[in-house]
Amino acid sequence: AAPLRIGIAGLGTVGGGVAKLLEQQGDLLAARCGRRIQVTAISARSRGKDRGVDLSAVRWHEDARALAADPEVDVVLELIGGSDGVAKELIEQAIKAGKPVVTANKALLALHGTALAKAAEQAGVILAYEAAVAGGIPVIKALREGLAANDVRRVYGILNGTCNYILSTMRESGREFADVLADAQKMGYAEADPSFDVDGIDAAHKLAILTSVAFGRELDFQGIHVEGIRHISALDLQFAEQLGYRIKLLGIAGRTDHGIEQRVHPCMIPLDAPIAHVEGVFNAVFAEGDSVGNVLLTGRGAGAGPTASAVVADLMDIARGHHAPVLGIPAERLAPGETAPMGRHRGA
Ligand code: NDP
Ligand code: HSE
Repeated sequence: AAPLRIGIAGLGTVGGGVAKLLEQQGDLLAARCGRRIQVTAISARSRGKDRGVDLSAVRWHEDARALAADPEVDVVLELIGGSDGVAKELIEQAIKAGKPVVTANKALLALHGTALAKAAEQAGVILAYEAAVAGGIPVIKALREGLAANDVRRVYGILNGTCNYILSTMRESGREFADVLADAQKMGYAEADPSFDVDGIDAAHKLAILTSVAFGRELDFQGIHVEGIRHISALDLQFAEQLGYRIKLLGIAGRTDHGIEQRVHPCMIPLDAPIAHVEGVFNAVFAEGDSVGNVLLTGRGAGAGPTASAVVADLMDIARGHHAPVLGIPAERLAPGETAPMGRHRGA
């Protein structure tokens, strides 16, 4: 079969990781998909930067948006980031050109996901985003396909690897916040603007996506109550431990009598709860379905390898012709976002 030709926009932590994974596992992927996945075009800010993989024979585009119109690109990978600008224009142009898109960009999806899903479905193209939520954990596939027969009542979890890494490391070592955040940045876990991580915004972006997929709603990022972890000290973490709790930043969404409640904030988790022991860059997603009962998925939530694993899984779905509605329900039929006011209901 003809190879699936991909164009990668963004060659940083995630894009570089994808290029490496495709090179290292080329034969395995070809055997599993029945065709090769071949990088035919790339774009980034700086052409000369070493990406740790030989891309010298691959076509370079100065403007990433040119990937959408490149006749040698079948699928566009948007791995630049940002909720508007080049990333958004590239995705819109690729959809218009009838090309499937794979993205890891939760900020963009949280704000524009419903409109992009509608545009993709109207154009009959795939918009895939497994890597956007919980890094390497296949949580979109699990909720959208694996739990498709369930009425999901609640979904919650540790959705930001940087915050979990900071809280774990501060508790274990007594080191201070800014110092540990600098480590997370070095390891490629943090967002370009790390305030998105530590102020809970990145977790809220991911929660908005999970809520949409779990409850069949349009995305409602604005309806989320958001608090971050900046104010938590090493001493707070140690005191919580003495009382039998571990502090974690959770994203929580659940049905209430007043609509879907969505919130992100630090929580005191009893030490006998499994999620209390999800440490470091690991994320965890818990879902409660009416038929399946409780499901808990854990794994690495950020970094090059885990995120590339999710991006390449999406590419493999495209190579094999697998296809599901972007948000689980055809976008035209999603119920409007309806977030319950905070304070009326608790119970995570
Ligand atoms: P990086 O900052 O490491 O990489 C961004 C890449 O985009 C760089 O290669 C940069 O080029 C390139 N770039 C920036 N502006 C442009 C532009 N205008 N045109 C073309 N290329 C451009 O970010 P990450 O790889 O960490 O993140 C990428 C996306 O993946 C984001 O949406 C992020 O939220 C998401 N994500 C990140 C995860 C992670 O663990 N890091 C996990 C899951 C999702 P250059 O290298 O030349 O500067
Ligand atoms: N900055 C994000 C995190 C990357 O730390 O979880 C993964 O989405």
